[in-house]
Amino acid sequence: MERAAVTRLGVVAGVAVCVVIGGAVLAQYIFTMKKKAGRKTKIIEMMPEFQKKTVHIKNPERVEEIICSLIKGGASKLQIITDFDMTLSKFFQNGKKCSTCHSVIDNCNLITDECRKKLLQFRNTYYPIEVDPTISTEEKNPFMIEWWTKAHTLLIEQGIRKDKLAAVVRESDVVLRDGYELFFDKLNEHSIPVFIFSAGIGDVLEEVITQFGVFHSNVKVVSNFMDFDEEGVLKGFKGELIHVYNKHDGALRSSEYFHKLKDNCNIILLGDSLGDLTMADGVQNIENILKIGFLNDKVEETLEKYINSYDIVLARDETLDLVNAILQKIL
Ligand code: TMP
Ligand code: MG
Repeated sequence: MERAAVTRLGVVAGVAVCVVIGGAVLAQYIFTMKKKAGRKTKIIEMMPEFQKKTVHIKNPERVEEIICSLIKGGASKLQIITDFDMTLSKFFQNGKKCSTCHSVIDNCNLITDECRKKLLQFRNTYYPIEVDPTISTEEKNPFMIEWWTKAHTLLIEQGIRKDKLAAVVRESDVVLRDGYELFFDKLNEHSIPVFIFSAGIGDVLEEVITQFGVFHSNVKVVSNFMDFDEEGVLKGFKGELIHVYNKHDGALRSSEYFHKLKDNCNIILLGDSLGDLTMADGVQNIENILKIGFLNDKVEETLEKYINSYDIVLARDETLDLVNAILQKIL
């Protein structure tokens, strides 16, 4: 073949290869762009808080959909329903378990050592039942009633004084999750109603959020409140007992509160127990509800159950970062 012809052939072949490669790159680019444009989880993919290893979501597209609706609804439609112990408060800090409202009292000097020992025995008996993933809620119910009733009876026998509670809380290791200030302050700034629904002890709970400086006027606490006599000595507990697995009738008990909020049809629910999933049961006019669950204990054994129940599960995450990031988008 002539030299010039060979050169020509080489050039043509080179151009053809370039065209093929260029075409492939272009096709890949168009495919990626189309995929991006059609993606249904754009918002959560762009939020770094969702990329943490602690975050587990069964159905990201559904979560995206709910978050979009919450953003669209804005502040005027939003309300928060949240548990307290181990949801707003930390489970673990500095290698140690933190106190619940009850264990603030269990660990204080207002009760005798004998009483403390008994309360600890109750905890060792009943807490494993509370978090056992193999036992149904129905089966757990009577044990929870037994635990709460026995514990409250013992506390009443101790003659606890109301005026000592503030000091007891101050000396305790109960602590709110990282990011609590932003959480409470932002919700207050936008007048978003916050319903704290706790099976803990209301007086201790309110003292905790007061001492942390976040008991703002938009916060309502429904819990087991102590009843004191004229001398300020504990004589009983007010109202019907709330334990972790009877939260489904909370809205019924607080019907007046929720009636006033009938236009706040978008809910963010925060909990750590499977019992907390029922906290919004009976609330009328719910349009959108995002359920976020903190999984603190027995993580490996319980993760699947939590992922199937909560929209978003935060496993061993002691922060409110993800919740705050969602609020940031809505407010
Ligand atoms: P919560 O509804 O705010 O999470 O509060 C309930 C928690 O209280 C539950 O996880 C178990 C805990 N608890 C104790 O730590 N000690 C007790 O004596 C009782 C009755 C409950
Ligand atoms: Mg809890």
